[in-house]
Amino acid sequence: QAFFTPIQKTAPPSPTKRHTKISVIGAGNVGMAIAQTILTQDLVDELALVDAKPDKLRGEMLDLQHAAAFLPRTKIVASVDYAVTVGSDLCIVTAGARQIAGESRLNLIQRNKALFSIIIPQLTRYSPDSILMIVSNPVDVLTYVAWKLSGFPSNRVLGSGTNLDSSRFRFLLADHLDVSAQDVQAYIVGEHGDSSVALWSSISIGGVPVMSFLERQQIAHEEEKLENIRKEVVQGAYEVISLKGYTSWAIGYSVASLARSILRNQRSIHPVSVLAKGFYGIHGGDVFLSLPAQLGRSGVLGVANVHLTDMEAQRLRDSAKTILEVQNELGI
Ligand code: NAD
Ligand code: LAC
Repeated sequence: QAFFTPIQKTAPPSPTKRHTKISVIGAGNVGMAIAQTILTQDLVDELALVDAKPDKLRGEMLDLQHAAAFLPRTKIVASVDYAVTVGSDLCIVTAGARQIAGESRLNLIQRNKALFSIIIPQLTRYSPDSILMIVSNPVDVLTYVAWKLSGFPSNRVLGSGTNLDSSRFRFLLADHLDVSAQDVQAYIVGEHGDSSVALWSSISIGGVPVMSFLERQQIAHEEEKLENIRKEVVQGAYEVISLKGYTSWAIGYSVASLARSILRNQRSIHPVSVLAKGFYGIHGGDVFLSLPAQLGRSGVLGVANVHLTDMEAQRLRDSAKTILEVQNELGI
């Protein structure tokens, strides 16, 4: 019972829109960047945080709650007990070990797989109808692990994948050409990691298809120069980690954009980690990797048929092979 009544009610509580809820598991650098971006974008009615460290978790919750006067109204709750996540529409998993400088994402698999066998059953228990979005690394293999452990249909399990790498790619191209990154349409697909694939053939800027423009103008481009830009995208994460110890802001915005597309049923296309078997000639096992996928309220609605050159398709299949090799060692 409130200690006084500031507003005298003139109507019964209105059954307005349905209560929407996101849970973020792992209140570290990445989880908190995601949480704060979600809050600033007014995406949900309730945000639940879970972490294994109760003091850090309560501190983070209070710190966010203290921004209430400057933000759209969102109920923020936090607990080490997964009961706090009950009824979530979307569960975002960021818990786990991160890379030290120079370490590859794939190297984290054993440590983070063990955590997932605790986390995923708790999430499915309290939110059996939710969508699971995996961010912890190696994100593609862990999305597969989450899919297996959850028993959810594949449309309700995805990984943040190369949505972030594609933003890095678009930033580099935009910076080079002095245009807005939002006008650069360009995808990185495949593994969120060292074997990622840049889809040069489909890049367009303000509606101008770049490669065919260069060909028509007979402007020479060297394969090696293009590959160096892809490597710069891959190196981007290693550079940030070597400088500040972790990456956070860009993944925060990347995941919030995915959450928006899902919960607001935007039906927009994002390169995210989805069950890729059968698409673009990928066979040989159930593998999750990033493809341009349409996202909406039921999760992954479909995969876009982007035209790939033979070389791009081959690189994508090689990337799938890299992920499958790690996956096969897990024995799941
Ligand atoms: P961090 O160390 O800051 O945070 C990890 C958090 O997980 C910690 O707060 C820890 O207490 C918590 N945790 C550990 N075990 C837990 C459990 N069983 N239940 C709940 N919480 C638990 O690390 P970070 O920088 O936030 O990175 C987190 C993960 O995100 C790493 O795996 C990192 O590689 C990954 N990451 C992915 C992307 C991407 O694009 N997919 C981008 C950046 C980071
Ligand atoms: C990223 C993390 C490290 O920022 O996967 O790409």
